Amino acid sequence: MRMVDLIASKRDGGELSTEAIQWFVKGVAAGTVPDYQAAALLMAIYLRGMSRRETVDLTLAMAHSGEQLDLHDTVPFTIDKHSSGGVGDKTTLVVQPLVAACGVPVGKMSGRGLGSSGGTLDKMESVRGWHCDLSMPQFKQQLREIGLVLAGQTADLAPADGKLYALRDVTGTVASMPLIAASIMSKKLAAGADAILLDVKVGSGAFMKTVPAARELAEIMVNIGHDAGRQTVALLSDMNQPLGHAIGNALELKEAITTLHGDGPPDFWAHCREVAAQMLLLAEKAETLAQAQEQIDQARVSGRAWHKFRQMAIAQGGDVSQIDEPDTLPQARYVETVCAPQDGFAAAFDTDALGWCTVYLGAGRLVKTDTLDHAVGLLLPLKVGDRVTKGQPIAVIHANDPNKLAQAKTNLLATITWTNDPVPGLPHFYGTVA
Ligand code: URA
Repeated sequence: MRMVDLIASKRDGGELSTEAIQWFVKGVAAGTVPDYQAAALLMAIYLRGMSRRETVDLTLAMAHSGEQLDLHDTVPFTIDKHSSGGVGDKTTLVVQPLVAACGVPVGKMSGRGLGSSGGTLDKMESVRGWHCDLSMPQFKQQLREIGLVLAGQTADLAPADGKLYALRDVTGTVASMPLIAASIMSKKLAAGADAILLDVKVGSGAFMKTVPAARELAEIMVNIGHDAGRQTVALLSDMNQPLGHAIGNALELKEAITTLHGDGPPDFWAHCREVAAQMLLLAEKAETLAQAQEQIDQARVSGRAWHKFRQMAIAQGGDVSQIDEPDTLPQARYVETVCAPQDGFAAAFDTDALGWCTVYLGAGRLVKTDTLDHAVGLLLPLKVGDRVTKGQPIAVIHANDPNKLAQAKTNLLATITWTNDPVPGLPHFYGTVA
């Protein structure tokens, strides 16, 4: 087979055979398909789409591109969660320890920043020494001993996704339904969880802009999960505004730590509480949502969830003093407040543009080899429906470069639509696909 034929076939709207997809994925994992040809095929898939059969083939080929974890020799049951990607989405950092603290082991393979959306691994790497490249024996040992693992792709686990993910991030090929479904579900299948909770984001800061599109993505992923024998449920959640206040790696980690301590933005906590409670229901640790929520609240109030998070950070090499004193996490040199340009109500955000605003500050990658600036980002407590008066502080920009700071201020203000009339706040969720 030749890559040029696969690219041309997809460019012209053809369907790739199962064999062609398996050959491509094997080549990506082995490093025999050059980046430029892989990127060309990704762009052709982005523009032409894939049939359900092709999407399932791509997912399975990527899941089998490394080893498949079977965790039953380690713990009887594990649960995993994954978000389809959003701005300010630090949910995993809070939900994972909450669920683990309720006695359900969570072994998770996370991702890095992708397009305008941040990545859990990048956020945790704000902590000196913390690493996510665990071997399989290490993954299992940590799952057994702590009940909480936050790993990244390695040469062992879904390596084809690791390579394609990094290429998609910098080639404008992220927001593709088949590529997102295959990327998420290949990792979930390879990591061996018995149950999977998918958090599918909808709105201006999500890759799926409408509820029907998000529902379709959720259905594809839930079906793939069920076919592979995993209990899979998807929540459709709002991403028409950033989740919580912080956008940017260390700022988000700090917000997650504050939330685990019982504080934090109410919208972010409401989101985490629901996702974590749904995971307990999936794990059959509670019979009703109210019971599950009660357990989650207890895990937070008692400090057990915080303890779990700390254990995970230490086990993966993190400097615990930075977790205990989040003010010692990377800090930006320039911190500037942005004020409301007029009286009125916040009516809408271009949330994707807010994500890009932090990428340009240095929180994400523009080319594969970019190193991240963990300190930079935004704090934006403003929510849709909030009333402001002209000159009132609405956001804070954290930057390490005065030119980028000035650009971020212009970009940030351009993302907000104001109105003179009151507007209702946004819902947290739009439904469930089970
Ligand atoms: N998360 C992933 O792991 N992959 C995607 O493509 C989007 C979100």
